[in-house]
Amino acid sequence: MKVTVVGAGGNVGSTVAYALAERDFVKEIVMVDLERKEGDKTFYPSKGRALDQWQTAPITSFNTYLNGTVDYKDTKGSDVCVITAGVPRKPGMSRDDLLSINGKIVKSVTEELVKQSPDTIIIIVSNPLDVMTYVAHAASNLDPKKVMGMAGILDTARYRAFLAHELDVSPKDIQAMLMGGHGDTMVPLPRYTSVSGIPVTQFISESKLNEIVERTKSGGGELVGLMGTSAWYAPGAAAAQMVEAILLDQNRIFPCAAYCDGEFGIKDLFIGVPVKLGKGGIKEIIEIDLDDEEKKLLRASEQAVRSTLDDFKKLMDK
Ligand code: NAI
Ligand code: 2OP
Repeated sequence: MKVTVVGAGGNVGSTVAYALAERDFVKEIVMVDLERKEGDKTFYPSKGRALDQWQTAPITSFNTYLNGTVDYKDTKGSDVCVITAGVPRKPGMSRDDLLSINGKIVKSVTEELVKQSPDTIIIIVSNPLDVMTYVAHAASNLDPKKVMGMAGILDTARYRAFLAHELDVSPKDIQAMLMGGHGDTMVPLPRYTSVSGIPVTQFISESKLNEIVERTKSGGGELVGLMGTSAWYAPGAAAAQMVEAILLDQNRIFPCAAYCDGEFGIKDLFIGVPVKLGKGGIKEIIEIDLDDEEKKLLRASEQAVRSTLDDFKKLMDK
């Protein structure tokens, strides 16, 4: 099995690669990034990170080879490609500020990848996530089942981690679902949140749960405020979990940005929905029941993603 990560000289990309290498089931991970010139020196961040990570293999005992490169020819025959290339969010910058720069990067990277691996599966991480997934799909011409965005696993992980700490239980025992776009309009679903199958509402007051839901919605911004750039450990682990579910055909049920063609009343849009992830990509979008309030919140999130997509299309028409 071969996986490519583009943007792997950066924080999220290198973390995806390492999280996958430690799982030790992929033969080779190709880590692509740009070269960087400073004065008369040229640096190769993805080659450096790949070499450093590969040198941990004898210590941590994995076999997966990490191959850093600037040449897309090395990506030929990739089963899955993860795109983290782009500019991260800085303090004061909204995800939507990233639209134009990252849109051009994601489009060109996708075109290069599918030239080398026409049957690959693509996972987008670059922001603004839902729109970048749309861009990658348009640029790839792949079946929409093979193009998806990573956000929901990260957002539910934040939600589950906050709950686990509050309730003093293992994070492993918190199960949750969340829908909508990757942004402030995301829709955590307390009705679909449980502690080992017991509804979370039996453990926590409504006001505390609402506080955690609100903290989850601004979870990315909280980390930007703390670090001056966006997060990478949890995003990297989340993308690696998607790659694993696909390549090991695990049929995991995750929230992912998937192409909706009428599901939940949403047409022609990539947005976070519950999916079954396994061999070949998205096997199914799972249309869970939503109550009126949840539908209203999802509709608002859909509108926010659609409006960012419209802005992007207008920018590209200029
Ligand atoms: P970073 O700056 O550490 O890494 C980005 C890398 O992309 C850099 O090494 C850069 O050289 C590379 N790059 C830029 N243009 C490229 C091109 N044309 N070809 C190949 N490589 C290129 O940024 P970080 O923190 O890794 O974030 C990456 C992206 O992921 C950002 O857009 C960020 O907003 C997004 N992100 C998304 C999350 C999600 O939940 N979906 C979570 C965290 C970050
Ligand atoms: C995050 O949620 C900024 O999308 C990035 O950490």
